[in-house]
Amino acid sequence: LARGVREPDLAGRHVVISAGGTREPLDPVRFLGNRSSGKQGYALARTAAARGARVTLVAANTALPDPAGVDVVPVGTAVQLREAVLKAAADADAVVMAAAVADFRPATYAAGKIKKRDGQEPAPITLVRNPDILAEISVDRARPGQVIVGFAAETDDVLANGRRKLERKGCDLLVVNEVGERKTFGAEENEAVVLAADGGETPVPHGPKEALADTVWDLVAARLG
Ligand code: CTP
Ligand code: CA
Repeated sequence: LARGVREPDLAGRHVVISAGGTREPLDPVRFLGNRSSGKQGYALARTAAARGARVTLVAANTALPDPAGVDVVPVGTAVQLREAVLKAAADADAVVMAAAVADFRPATYAAGKIKKRDGQEPAPITLVRNPDILAEISVDRARPGQVIVGFAAETDDVLANGRRKLERKGCDLLVVNEVGERKTFGAEENEAVVLAADGGETPVPHGPKEALADTVWDLVAARLG
C-alpha cells in the first residue's frame, strides 16, 4: 500500500458519527449553543471512510466541507440529533458520539422574536433536560456487538471523572480530553486518553485530530473482530 493509504480494515462496516454542537432555540433568531467546531467528528468520518467504512455523519451546526464519500445528515437540536442517530444506528456496526449535545433546552420556544421593553426586567429562561443519546443507545443496543464510543471534555480530575462517566453511560469506549481556555475547542490538534469498559487505557499524545481518530478506529476494529 502507498504511504498514507490504510488497510481497509473497516470495509463492509457501517459507522455512524455525530459531530458539531447542538443549538437549542429560544426564538426564531436566538439559541443556546456551545463551542464545538465539529473538527474531531469530521476527522473521524474522513479516517473511517479511508479505512473502507460506509460512513453516516450526523452534523450539528458545523461549517466544514462535506468529507468525500460520506453520507452527511445535517441537524440542529439535540432532539433532532437523537432522531438522526437512532435511525442511522439501526444497522450500524459502530456509533461514535463526538457531538457536543446540549444537556438542557429552553422549556418554551417563542414563535416571535423576544422583545425588550423600557423599564422591564428580563424574564428568566427556564430549562428542561435533553435526552441522553449516548446512554440510551448504549443501554438499548440496536444490534448485538455494536461498538459505542463517547467523548468527554473534562476540566478537573480528568481520568477519575472519565471512568465514572464511562460506567454511567454504559458505552464501550470513552475518549477523554482535558479542556481549558486554549485547549480543544476549535483547535487543529488534540490530546486524549481513551478509556475502555474492559479496563483498558490508551493515551493519545498531542497531535492531529486524524491521529486520535485513527486510534479510535483501531480500538473499534479490534472490538468488531
Ligand atoms: N451526550 C449525549 N446526549 C446528551 C449529552 C451528552 O449523547 N444529552 C454524549 C456526548 O455526545 C458525549 C458524551 O455523551 O459523547 C459525554 O458528554 P458529556 O457532556 O461529557 O456528558 P454528560 O453526561 O452530559 O455530563 P456533564 O454533566 O459532565 O456534561
Ligand atoms: Ca454534557
